[in-house]
Amino acid sequence: MISDQLKEQTKSNHQSLEKKLIGKMRAMRNKQDYIDLLTIFYSYFGGLEQLIQGNVLKNKVPDYDLRRKAYSLSADIELLGGRHPALAAQHFLPAITNHAEALGAMYVIEGSTLGGKIISEMITKQLGITDGVSFFNGYGADTISMWQRFQAVLNQPENLPGDAIIAAANDTFLKFSEWFDLNA
Ligand code: HEM
Repeated sequence: MISDQLKEQTKSNHQSLEKKLIGKMRAMRNKQDYIDLLTIFYSYFGGLEQLIQGNVLKNKVPDYDLRRKAYSLSADIELLGGRHPALAAQHFLPAITNHAEALGAMYVIEGSTLGGKIISEMITKQLGITDGVSFFNGYGADTISMWQRFQAVLNQPENLPGDAIIAAANDTFLKFSEWFDLNA
């Protein structure tokens, strides 16, 4: 299934991003450090979501509007008193030019909700922050069911062989990692 291939073939990029993020989070000392982390996500995911929006076939992703993350990132930044950064310019983002590539980018964004719970717990434990964690809380109790529904979208036979989805997912991970290095 495409969802299994995606997991397997993006594993090393996920692991290196996770490592980078954990290092950054361990070094956080105050609210401003956390706002800075949110702005990195906001500028990248926000720019990416615009590219996805222009290319995804929305009738094939039934709950597409529910899944946009720039809103919750923006709300968290505002709640904490931070300023919105500009969105990442197109040359910092993966090339998203069709539905398959849009699904690959969405895979990375949607998957980030799975580790989000661990991240929000780290933030609360380390900084005592309990407000402004809506992005990392993902879909709360619905996180697993939202993930499974997205996997079902990925696994539609019409998406086979899936190479374009996987390539776009890996590019999305890599470009995010680069964006992280540039801004962290
Ligand atoms: C501290 C940072 C992170 C931790 C601890 C973490 C942890 C996790 C965990 C526990 C899972 C679930 C694995 C499973 O159930 O099989 C997961 C899945 C995933 N994460 Fe992360 N993650 C982190 C950061 C990120 C970020 C920043 C992104 C994207 C930008 C991301 C993308 C994904 C994706 C796409 C999956 C789905 C893998 C699959 O296909 O099952 N993760 N992560």
